[in-house]
Amino acid sequence: QTADWDMEAAEKGGYPHFMIKEINEQPEAIRTTIMPRIKEGLPFLEECGITTETIKDFKNITIVACGTAMHAGMVGKYVIEDLARVSVNVDIASEFRYRNPIVGEGDLVIIISQSGETADSLAAMRLAKQKGAKTLAIVNAKGSSIAREADMLIYTLAGPEISVPSTKAYITQLSVMYLFAFELALAKETISTAECKRLVSALTKMPEAVQYVIDNCEEICKFVATKLVATDSLLYIGRGLDYALSMEGSLKLKEVSYIHSESYAAGELKHGTISLIDEDVPVIAVATQTGIIPKTISNVVEVKSRGAKVILVCTDACARELKDGVADYVIEIPHTDELLMPITAVVPLQILAYYTSINRGIDPDKPKNLAKSVTVE
Ligand code: G6P
Repeated sequence: QTADWDMEAAEKGGYPHFMIKEINEQPEAIRTTIMPRIKEGLPFLEECGITTETIKDFKNITIVACGTAMHAGMVGKYVIEDLARVSVNVDIASEFRYRNPIVGEGDLVIIISQSGETADSLAAMRLAKQKGAKTLAIVNAKGSSIAREADMLIYTLAGPEISVPSTKAYITQLSVMYLFAFELALAKETISTAECKRLVSALTKMPEAVQYVIDNCEEICKFVATKLVATDSLLYIGRGLDYALSMEGSLKLKEVSYIHSESYAAGELKHGTISLIDEDVPVIAVATQTGIIPKTISNVVEVKSRGAKVILVCTDACARELKDGVADYVIEIPHTDELLMPITAVVPLQILAYYTSINRGIDPDKPKNLAKSVTVE
């Protein structure tokens, strides 16, 4: 017993939990994942079976995954569609596999999985292959089933992730999605080489940006988490990439704090969900995408006027222009390239979930009823 405990404490490297240790490992995890895949300022995925030639003819892409990995796919959809102008569907693996999905020759199916062993994701990949689609796996665990069976494979090099809630695996899944999207956009000739180099260069600066957010947001997130201890239910809202990200923020919080939480496209609030809002339902709004920030802020004003306490995660530029009293708490993150914002914006959401869990006396590494890898249906 004591030996086990000592071993575990040693593995945590001075951190009280694996979750916070792994959050802190994110800058290095991104660096390790992207640097070997960049050559002369451009994406270099040849060793993964991906070149301009092998991907230029795909007409439709489907991303299939579960849980956090599926949320990385949601970000991937926005980025691929925006840059490469290829239509992308994102599907939950357990739905895809039983639905006679429309995929076949000429299509690409991307499977994202930390463990590479999730039963539904593996079955979905086999189905996609059987229907004639090409498969690309984005996997963290070396030699896992999904890694072995895919036609093309990009490993996320996050290292072992011990905590059940995924953090550093997610951020490396995003990093790989970006590199792939850049390569596809080059292949489709929807961006120039110069633009691609600019994007790659912006991506290489993300480890530093994530470190900055960890260093500067932990205190405010810790403080805001004290306000959520007694909450029964809350909502996350955002638009576009901020919506994709808020899905992950919401999942993280409910996994480790047992607080009911949902994420909504901000513009959809008025079609039902706003009826749930009162002073007992906090709203966490994410606003990082310049063009739609005013729209999200107008939703913030709406929920605030119905009594909600609002926690706003936004760029420093957005924070500077906020009118007094629009949000109760503002968590600022530095403005980076707009498309890459989910990489930094996820960090405060992870830290907020972590401290809310701690404040509620829960072990965030081992939430009840959840498993790190779901290898049975
Ligand atoms: C479980 C884990 C999640 C994970 C999901 C998919 O639910 O608790 O953290 O996102 O499985 O796992 P995978 O290994 O396929 O990424």
